[in-house]
Amino acid sequence: MELISTKICKTGDIGVNDNLFGGTLLSWLDEAGGIMAANVCRDHNVITLKMDEVLFKQPVKVKEQIRIYGKVERIGRTSVQLYLEARRANLQDTSEVVVCSTKMVFVRIDSEGNPKAIDEKS
Ligand SMILES: CC(C)(COP(=O)(O)OP(=O)(O)OC[C@H]1O[C@@H](n2cnc3c(N)ncnc32)[C@H](O)[C@@H]1OP(=O)(O)O)[C@@H](O)C(=O)NCCC(=O)NCCS
Repeated sequence: MELISTKICKTGDIGVNDNLFGGTLLSWLDEAGGIMAANVCRDHNVITLKMDEVLFKQPVKVKEQIRIYGKVERIGRTSVQLYLEARRANLQDTSEVVVCSTKMVFVRIDSEGNPKAIDEKS
């Protein structure tokens, strides 16, 4: 899988149970997926269509680094399906643990917000 971005859990990211707020992690996944989809489409104009089941397997605490990895699963005519993983980095031994995973679909769009073929020139 390809590393897309790294985030750090800050005090302002914490929810009511001393863990990273789930909505913040969703936003990090959405942003990372959008970056990967834009790279695949060679176009900034991609939009989130779908997020599959999201599994929050492990809590994330303040100061922990979260690395977001992605893999292209399918490239369609106008859409890209990605598999995304958020992993907690252990800075002592360089290991990583998956804290959250999901699949997402992004669609390339034209200036009017309609789907645009990925292989069509900008
Ligand atoms: C994304 C958007 C432009 C797509 O428009 P649409 O009229 O639904 O487009 P289409 O039906 O032609 O589908 C576009 C692509 O999505 C795919 N798609 C549609 N529904 C899907 C689904 N349920 N699961 C997976 N892929 C799907 C289609 O197969 C097609 O891909 P392909 O060309 O590679 O085969 C439109 O749905 C939209 O603007 N949604 C809001 C997006 C948004 O605001 N996101 C931010 C978060 S709120």
